[in-house]
Amino acid sequence: MGDKILTTEHLYAYYDQHCVLKDINMAIPKFKATAIMGPSGCGKTTLLRCFNRLHELSPGGRIEGKIRLRNTDLLSLNPIQVRRRIGMVFQRPNPFPTMSIYENVIAGYRLNGIKLSQNKADEIVEQALKKTALWDEVKDVLYRRGTFLSGGQQQRLCIARALAMNPEVLLLDEPTSALDPKATAHIEELIVGLKKSVTIVIVTHSIGQAGRVADYTAFLYLGELIEFGPTERLFTAPKDKRTEEYLSGKFG
Ligand SMILES: Nc1ncnc2c1ncn2[C@@H]1O[C@H](COP(=O)(O)OP(=O)(O)OP(=O)(O)O)[C@@H](O)[C@H]1O
Ligand SMILES: [Mg+2]
Repeated sequence: MGDKILTTEHLYAYYDQHCVLKDINMAIPKFKATAIMGPSGCGKTTLLRCFNRLHELSPGGRIEGKIRLRNTDLLSLNPIQVRRRIGMVFQRPNPFPTMSIYENVIAGYRLNGIKLSQNKADEIVEQALKKTALWDEVKDVLYRRGTFLSGGQQQRLCIARALAMNPEVLLLDEPTSALDPKATAHIEELIVGLKKSVTIVIVTHSIGQAGRVADYTAFLYLGELIEFGPTERLFTAPKDKRTEEYLSGKFG
């Protein structure tokens, strides 16, 4: 699988006494896209939220075990730093409603109190919007509110906002589930292009989407990692009966 960027060792996640991730051992390969699949409630979102230290902000949220970012113990790092290095995009596009498109892209810097010269800020905004193929569509309306955009454009704006921080890993939690097929195809294309420079972890319920974008796929079931491997192998020759049943639509 080549270089690994994120590794978990005996990772457990809890909400109070309720254990929702059990003994997860996995290694996410660098500069690849990894899909996380599994029935509703199996812990996919929780796993992403562990990776960028959001889980511990949930009421009762607690982690046991290890997560490593490259060779560093991720749980010993400053969470703010972790979130700069590991960006996240959510299911529903959520641009900051009172901010312009420009302000949205640069928001991570402003919210972290990082000062940028006007030139540098302009450059970051342009680059991030180009990476999400939004630049040509919005370059003349940069000071309009982000919420004027279509759903697909708003989601690309949220991806641009995450990319503006130059993260090493981009976590995408069902990023297209609120979008139409055309906007979905656009985002899938972006993901395939982005993984040359950023490692992607994407939660998806769509087997088609995982097949199109993900080099590797993990299958979670009731909080356990059942199977993890190259997407094509997992889809064509699953080793575990539960993976096979999930893929054939027998449950959720
Ligand atoms: N804030 C919370 N407080 C308590 N329990 C929670 C909380 N969020 C999630 N859970 C529980 O943790 C488990 C895993 O939830 P999670 O959201 O990670 O699942 P998921 O795989 O992302 O599901 P979906 O496909 O529906 O998004 C579920 O049993 C859920 O009820
Ligand atoms: Mg979820």
